[in-house]
Amino acid sequence: MNTTKIALVTGANKGIGKEIARQLGQAGFTVLAAARDQERGQLAVKELVAEGLDVVGVQLDVTDQASVRAAAGWVAAEYGRLDVLVNNAAIIPAGDTAVSEVEADVLRSTFETNVIGLVGVTQAFLPLLRNAGEARIVNLSSALASFALVGDRWSRMSTVLLFAYNASKAAVNMATVMLANELRGTGILVNAADPGQCATDMGGLDSPRTAAEGAAVAVRLATLDADGPTGHVYAEDGRLPW
Ligand SMILES: NC(=O)c1ccc[n+]([C@@H]2O[C@H](COP(=O)([O-])OP(=O)(O)OC[C@H]3O[C@@H](n4cnc5c(N)ncnc54)[C@H](OP(=O)(O)O)[C@@H]3O)[C@@H](O)[C@H]2O)c1
Repeated sequence: MNTTKIALVTGANKGIGKEIARQLGQAGFTVLAAARDQERGQLAVKELVAEGLDVVGVQLDVTDQASVRAAAGWVAAEYGRLDVLVNNAAIIPAGDTAVSEVEADVLRSTFETNVIGLVGVTQAFLPLLRNAGEARIVNLSSALASFALVGDRWSRMSTVLLFAYNASKAAVNMATVMLANELRGTGILVNAADPGQCATDMGGLDSPRTAAEGAAVAVRLATLDADGPTGHVYAEDGRLPW
């Protein structure tokens, strides 16, 4: 049996997802770099393979269940298991704004990708994660999902008007804690990672942290020991308040 660990990262063609793929590759994983657009995905794969990493591209649009099923079927046939799933893909659509103004379509599309997509991917890959015996699920969250921080009027998080995004990531936190409860004792640890504000297309290129710095917390959670925590959300400097 192939003992190299297999990790799948969604939205791995750019930003934090590509850096998570790179760092997991550097840690010795075979990385399945999932991208919704095959061409964009292949560009990232080429870059990482040129660095000597074991990275394979896979087409996966988290909002398209047929593509999710096809990707899971391919991983099952090729590897028979999955050791790490990183649910990284997400959007902040144009038009995301305050609760009093946000349009229903903006809410729908945000939840379609960030929540329903994440849950659909997780369900599709869960049998393969169970086959691994010991497995890790990491969901990318955000400090903007923290009720404690957004509820603190002195916190910078309380000034950001992205209701659809914030609410979607709060739902990701709930998916994290509830799935961790479901899977307790199975060897599958489920945690969420807040990368901090990183210089990516989403975070804005003038953000204080690099995508590589943001990726590090997710990689740490993807490589936890068997006695590691489950059902929490972590930033670089420790647990984030819910
Ligand atoms: N950057 C930050 O400051 C920050 C802060 C807190 C949390 N986060 C979280 O960190 C994660 C990565 O963010 P990022 O800054 O790297 O964002 P990004 O640069 O915008 O990259 C997002 C990735 O998700 C992919 N994606 C979007 N919709 C998808 C879909 N339907 N199916 C598959 N892939 C899809 C994108 O693919 P395309 O290239 O095809 O669009 C891209 O690869 C997200 O979950 C984000 O919420 C980021």
